[in-house]
Amino acid sequence: MKRVAILISGGGSNMLSLINAMAAIEEAEPVLVVSNRPDAGGLVKATGLGVPTAVIDHRPFAGDRAAFEQALTICLREASADVICLAGFMRILSSEFVRDWRSKILNIHPSLLPKYKGLNTHQRALDAADTESGCTVHAVTEALDDGPILGQARVPILKSDTAESLAARVLEMEHKLYPRVLKSFLAGETSPIFLSYDG
Ligand code: GRF
Repeated sequence: MKRVAILISGGGSNMLSLINAMAAIEEAEPVLVVSNRPDAGGLVKATGLGVPTAVIDHRPFAGDRAAFEQALTICLREASADVICLAGFMRILSSEFVRDWRSKILNIHPSLLPKYKGLNTHQRALDAADTESGCTVHAVTEALDDGPILGQARVPILKSDTAESLAARVLEMEHKLYPRVLKSFLAGETSPIFLSYDG
């Protein structure tokens, strides 16, 4: 049984998809949801689903990333986490942390990586007049939004799209892609998963 921890910073819609999906994934159990923000809406949702939660507020660490990550690691080790899923987690993890958890951290990013690493991905795709966008699940490495791609889902960009309408369409596919990739990852499958928007 793989013990899965999920890191969030906000509403946790991807966290919800993962927890609900793990009910049907033999080899996975959601053991902990950690947020760097005490007010993250996902914490209440996780509790409602019976998943233990923890808050490690990054603000008291005032930029001391190592100390923040040390507290995070203690929490994850106490839960005996085997795999970490970043799901709307908005803190950048240090190379040391990533090395400690080598190849055991997944992240979902709202663009078709390697395009649009970083923030404001939807507006950047619109500004570039792209005709499609999407989301990517990748293994986390030392470089930001750069690890091996484990899965991607594509969505069309409509002429009428705003960053908000595009984000909503991408988010729909995030909720489908991440659980599929987690299941495949835990089963030791290596070929990436590709999905297309099904409206
Ligand atoms: C999503 O767009 C996700 O791609 C990004 O964070 C946003 C919010 O995710 N990583 P969630 O609703 O908190 O899961």
